Amino acid sequence: MQTQLLPVSPETLARAGELIRSGELVGFPTETVYGLGANAMDADAVRRIFEAKGRPGDNPLIVHISAIDQLGPLIAVKPSPMARALMDAYWPGPMTLIFPKSDLVPMAVTAGLDTVAVRFPAHPAARALIDAARRPIAAPSANRSGRPSPTTAAHVFEDMDGRIPLILDGGPCDVGLESTVIDVTGVEPRILRPGGVTREMIAAVCGSAGVDPAVMRPLKEGERPRSPGMKYRHYAPTGELTIVEGGPEAVVEAICGLYDAALSEGRRPLILALSDHLPAYGERKALSLGADAAEMAHAVFACLREADDLGADAIFSEAVPEDGVGLAVMNRLGRAAAFRILKV
Ligand code: TXA
Ligand code: MG
Repeated sequence: MQTQLLPVSPETLARAGELIRSGELVGFPTETVYGLGANAMDADAVRRIFEAKGRPGDNPLIVHISAIDQLGPLIAVKPSPMARALMDAYWPGPMTLIFPKSDLVPMAVTAGLDTVAVRFPAHPAARALIDAARRPIAAPSANRSGRPSPTTAAHVFEDMDGRIPLILDGGPCDVGLESTVIDVTGVEPRILRPGGVTREMIAAVCGSAGVDPAVMRPLKEGERPRSPGMKYRHYAPTGELTIVEGGPEAVVEAICGLYDAALSEGRRPLILALSDHLPAYGERKALSLGADAAEMAHAVFACLREADDLGADAIFSEAVPEDGVGLAVMNRLGRAAAFRILKV
């Protein structure tokens, strides 16, 4: 299959809408990461997503809507006051809510679960695509399974060339990390995957916010996570990633030592560092993660991809504090590192 990479325009959106209606897959931009979309109401189309990504069949997809009134048919009971408050505050935006599903949503979308994940994205091209398709769009991140999520159309092309007919290019994504996934089926909102809508923002609306234990540690033997995606080693570069956490000077010193040791063993080390710290690493090969957690959110997946492109086999990354969007950054880095975190 020939994969076309075209800029977002009224013509390409109309073409993409047709493709979705006819059961095909389209790569498209959202404010978080690029998505790989299919008609959410068509089980066969949805199965193609799993094939194109090489995604395990037990990992459910998010259904994307372009107006609040599209939510009702997808869910079994009315949103709770807590869910409503979150929707009012953060939709459209980088937030996904888990509801009990209606019978209209194919089991292929929810991987057999009786709940459905729904997101109302803010990106104008994502909303225009849903409008053009005239149906909700099921979409995971548009990477091949196990690869870092794509934050540019070129990343999608790298992973999906020859597998899908069309990728819409809307430029780099704003947030750079996938949406916050929140289970709103209980009394208290529970964060299953941290993202751009932070724990603090959720607590500001709901009074409190729980964080699923699987967010910041590896799963125990035989443990079943509430969000199936949590059990896979995600976002991973090919090289072995280690995160170093502690005071800035101690971190720089430890990373320099690790880098030099790896180099003397004949490995190809690489450092991921906050921009302020780059000079401290001297001649060592290093990529900038940006100046703070928000910039890191934006840069982290692209840095992991670049680490692969550079052939790095020992990657050492600085950590950020786990408040605000820092929790999401550390969740993604932690999972990419299989939670190999060195405290100094
Ligand atoms: O920002 C995003 O969320 C992007 C863009 C394209 O919208 N999408 C995305 O999808 O990241 P994906 O498939 O890569 O991640 C969806 C996550 C997975 O961890 C999955 O396990 C979880 O959401 N999920 C989906 N449905 C669920 C459900 N019913 N219950 C619990 N977790 C669910
Ligand atoms: Mg993904």
